[in-house]
Amino acid sequence: MDKFVIDGGRRLFGSIRAQSAKNSVLPLLAASILTEQRVTIRETPPISDVACMAQILRELGAEVRFEGGDVTIDSANACDHRISSALTKELRSSVFMLGSLLTRFGRAVCAYPGGCDIGLRPIDLHLNALKRLGVEIEEREGYILCSCKRLKGADLVLDFPSVGATENILLAAVMAEGRTVLEGAAKEPEIVDLQNFLNAMGAKIAGAGTDTVVIEGVTKLNGCDYLPIKDRIEAGTYLIGCAVCGGEVEVEGVNADSLGLLLHKLRENGCKIHVKNDKIRIASDRRLKCNRRIETRPFPGFPTDLQAQTAALNSMAEGCALIVENLFETRFKYVPELKKMGADIEVNGRSAFVRGVGRLHGAAVSCGDLRGGAALVLAALGAEGTSEVLDLAHIDRGYADMEGKLKSLGAQIRRVRV
Ligand code: UD1
Repeated sequence: MDKFVIDGGRRLFGSIRAQSAKNSVLPLLAASILTEQRVTIRETPPISDVACMAQILRELGAEVRFEGGDVTIDSANACDHRISSALTKELRSSVFMLGSLLTRFGRAVCAYPGGCDIGLRPIDLHLNALKRLGVEIEEREGYILCSCKRLKGADLVLDFPSVGATENILLAAVMAEGRTVLEGAAKEPEIVDLQNFLNAMGAKIAGAGTDTVVIEGVTKLNGCDYLPIKDRIEAGTYLIGCAVCGGEVEVEGVNADSLGLLLHKLRENGCKIHVKNDKIRIASDRRLKCNRRIETRPFPGFPTDLQAQTAALNSMAEGCALIVENLFETRFKYVPELKKMGADIEVNGRSAFVRGVGRLHGAAVSCGDLRGGAALVLAALGAEGTSEVLDLAHIDRGYADMEGKLKSLGAQIRRVRV
């Protein structure tokens, strides 16, 4: 697996454009098989999660072509309703395929999903909602077998605003008979993007971005040509990168409201933030103060996908921070690696107590998951001396050309094939 070699301590200057959001593009790809017509998703990031989802679509019989950064899906000849267990295990998002396969074929089979190893990640909310829409579900030898005669709209309530379950419900209800009213929906911007994409195909969905989403089942969906929203987590990662390295960086393409709490926290750290339209500019003199407390929560709360990067920042600041992870049980796996660089962090269940040590030092560290890996890169960029960040496959799942973007800002980073 590849590794990064990073000489820390360089300030970052310049501007970068955020990639299309990974967490939008994956459900949009899943949605693309709802029609037999051609679907184009613009500016699709070349990340391995997208390649994996494309492979799943190909195995179902769809034609998937990447051209000039866009991807076109033609699923007129798709005929299979089973997702192979190797691909399901690699990509948790393949669970969205249940909703779209049921809509398209009335049947779906997949293994229990994989993805980042950051906790138990059950899918009970997905399965219970599908049952309420008329799906019969059998679980046998690690496989989920779903079938239905006709999907029927229903009143649904999610006990927890799960992003994936909300998306799956949209995909299963979009062509169901009658109306589905979903209460307790996740409100992430990526849900709004999925609604807009489906509506561009001819769906009748309203309310995404609020607690209640109403889906009027339609009988047919058309192809479409769609530009997804930009990746707020990627943007947030590079903003934190500038905070820890010092310098001045502008990230373009992301709506600042989707990063509201992060920007507030970065100001608490002592950074200057300036927002104009879809450009966020950060200036940092690297004399950072710790955030007193950060708790991850569903949107619009602090995103769990930026928790690790923020812990790296707080390690390089002055003071103490308490970080509480409310979404995933084992999302502190990067902590032992950060400690190799001199960080002082104590984990107790869902909480991490960070004592800021000012500067970290270079070390050889390994990525254990996508966002934890990004946190290690940020720590290495801000540290004194040279670091090696190993196991980049985790980072390549979600960040397109991370080294190219960081180099363009002045970082000393290179990828070495191992
Ligand atoms: C999505 C994002 C991921 C992000 C997460 C939370 C994608 C591809 N991934 O993941 O990057 O970190 O949202 O913002 O969009 N849960 C259950 N039962 C279920 C479903 C979820 O108990 O049926 C629990 C999970 O274990 C977890 C919490 O709900 O503790 C949040 O999960 P969810 O919002 O579903 O996250 P994902 O859709 O997996």
